[in-house]
Amino acid sequence: MIEHRKGIAIAVALMIGPPFVTLVATWHQMVGTGGDGLIRASAVTATATPAAATPATTTPASAAPATASPSSSPAAAPPAPAAGTAPAPQAASAPATPVPGRSALDFSASRPAWEGFLRGADPEAGKQLAANGKPGAGVQACIACHGPAGITPTGGIFPNLAGLSSDYLAKQLADFRSGTRIQPLMNTIARALTEQEIGQVAAYYGTLAGPPLHVGEFGGETARKLDIQGDGPRALPACANCHGLRGMGEGPLLPRLAGQSKEYFTDQMTAFRNGSRQNDDVGVMRAFSQRLTDKEIEALALYYAGPPPTPK
Ligand code: HEC
Ligand code: HEC
Repeated sequence: MIEHRKGIAIAVALMIGPPFVTLVATWHQMVGTGGDGLIRASAVTATATPAAATPATTTPASAAPATASPSSSPAAAPPAPAAGTAPAPQAASAPATPVPGRSALDFSASRPAWEGFLRGADPEAGKQLAANGKPGAGVQACIACHGPAGITPTGGIFPNLAGLSSDYLAKQLADFRSGTRIQPLMNTIARALTEQEIGQVAAYYGTLAGPPLHVGEFGGETARKLDIQGDGPRALPACANCHGLRGMGEGPLLPRLAGQSKEYFTDQMTAFRNGSRQNDDVGVMRAFSQRLTDKEIEALALYYAGPPPTPK
């Protein structure tokens, strides 16, 4: 009998207990948020702002603000619109430091700076620059190293520029200029050119046809397979996926490989592999080059280059 009553008491306690706890919790939340139970933007800021602002305000001289400010900006930014309608205390507690770079609320497409260099660029002016250089600024004529029509007669370390798109060329020149791509000769030259001149010369070379195609005549089966199939077990996509069939290039930013000398090709693959060329935006070439052996790179170099240039 006593056992039975105890059971009823426990059952009743279980029925009443949880709703009661919920009731008390709701009441507590309503009191805490102004009485109507709504969680206001102001209430969220009140907890987010001090936490985010602390590192910036308490350690201004240390190295911390540099790393703290980017992480604090997304947290602090969202409540800002609400602060406009909320009373003054909000604005006072918001950090005054400007947000570096793009804000988390900026959804406009990110456009590279070199796109602007190409806008309205005159290829005729680029042709003049390619032929004469900029003697006043110590820039040699491009044709001295890259050949009379963007095709190098000697090959070697000098790439053909003909057959590459204006976008790719402008990106490379901008990268040489900013130092994202390092090669002393081209870094000096690109830094001596104005943005407008980079646009002009890229527009000019973008109009020139590449050298005749001899892709696949050398390099054998190894290279051919890597080009058109890749290698699944090593997570290596086919080169042709990005660089087009027979290395012809694809779209604005996937360069033509066909006809580049085996020296230039090997130099670039080695540079991607050891990280000295890092301007492939998401690191695809750095990743893929590391999965290739020296022998395979050599075979691919011969495959894309075709026969060696005949000295004239
Ligand atoms: C003194 C020789 C020399 C001159 C002059 C020169 N270049 Fe170059 N250029 C090079 C070399 C060497 C490379 C290869 C860089 C590397 O290995 O990363 C190169 C690479 C490039 C590339 C990258 C091509 C690619 O496939 O990624 C572009 C674009 C370029 N040069 C444009 C120009 C333009 C435009 C001019 C004239 C204003 C010019 N160069 C003048 C030597 C020269
Ligand atoms: C996922 C796409 C992708 C694949 C697959 C790919 N590449 Fe690339 N590759 C790129 C991009 C993008 C660039 C240009 C990077 C830049 O902006 O400088 C590039 C650049 C290169 C360059 C430098 C060209 C120049 O003119 O300087 C070489 C050489 C090259 N790739 C070889 C290869 C080979 C060989 C393979 C196959 C084993 C391959 N790539 C597979 C995307 C790819």
